[in-house]
Order: sequence, then structure tokens, then C-alpha cells
Amino acid sequence: MHPGLLIGRLHTLRKKGMDFNMIGVCVVGSGRAGMIHARNFAANVPGAKLIAMVDPVEDVARAACKELEIDKSYSSYEQALENKDIDAYIVVSPTKFHMQTVKDLASAGKHVLCE
Ligand SMILES: NC(=O)c1ccc[n+]([C@@H]2O[C@H](COP(=O)([O-])OP(=O)(O)OC[C@H]3O[C@@H](n4cnc5c(N)ncnc54)[C@H](O)[C@@H]3O)[C@@H](O)[C@H]2O)c1
Repeated sequence: MHPGLLIGRLHTLRKKGMDFNMIGVCVVGSGRAGMIHARNFAANVPGAKLIAMVDPVEDVARAACKELEIDKSYSSYEQALENKDIDAYIVVSPTKFHMQTVKDLASAGKHVLCE
């Protein structure tokens, strides 16, 4: 990356109050297991910051965000991929979706933890 672009990017992150070493995390699937991961990443994992939740049931994703005090909810991981602050995805959707989801996220250059 050109140094000027990098400085601009760091400046943007600082304005957002983000630590430069912080990994932005998104949880895909806001059900029982998803919320366990989300609560952990929201409060207990140094160096990681939960920034978004995904669920096709939009009310479920919004309720999760409300509890976790974050403001980015998406109805699909494809939408979440547009958020460049997300570095890592925790895949906790129903099992039948895991393979395609992990392939797409990894192909997009993201870190993935799949339940
Ligand atoms: N390792 C473990 O001990 C453990 C324990 C529990 C669950 N799991 C795994 O976690 C996964 C989820 O289980 P759960 O118990 O949380 O299920 P759940 O039904 O409580 O939650 C699944 C959520 O995913 C959402 N969803 C459906 N399709 C989706 C999609 N395409 N993309 C994103 N979200 C989608 C649903 O709306 C629901 O809110 C399963 O694969 C399950 O096997 C693992």
C-alpha cells in the first residue's frame, strides 16, 4: 500500500476510536451459539473488537446488536463484506451453510473461525 494511503487509513481508524492493532470481528448467525461468541468478542478478547452481526432474520440481528451495544447489523455476510473494517468472521449459521460461507469469506481474504 502507498504510504500516503496507509497514513490516511490510520487517520480514519483513529477518528473512529479504533486501536491500530484491533481486529474487527463479525459474527455470522445470531442464534444461541452465535451469541456466545459475540458476547465473548464484545467484552473478553483483547485485540479484537466486535463490530457487526449477521442474521437473515433482521429483527434477530438488530436485537443482538442492541444487547451488544454495536450498530452494524446485516442480513447476509455478502452485505457485511462491504464493511472494510471487518477483518475476521465467526461462522455460526446452520451447518448446511458453512462450506459456501467459509469459501466465500476466505476467497475475499478474510480470517474465518467456523463452528
Ligand atoms: N461447538 C459447539 O459446541 C456448538 C454448540 C452449539 C452450536 N454449534 C453449531 O453452531 C451452529 C449454529 O447453531 P445454533 O445452536 O446457534 O443455531 P440457532 O438456530 O440457535 O442459530 C442459527 C442462527 O443462524 C441464522 N441463520 C440462518 N441462515 C443463515 C445464513 N445463511 N447466514 C447467517 N445466519 C443464518 C438463523 O436465523 C439463526 O438466528 C451450528 O452449526 C451448530 O452445529 C456448535
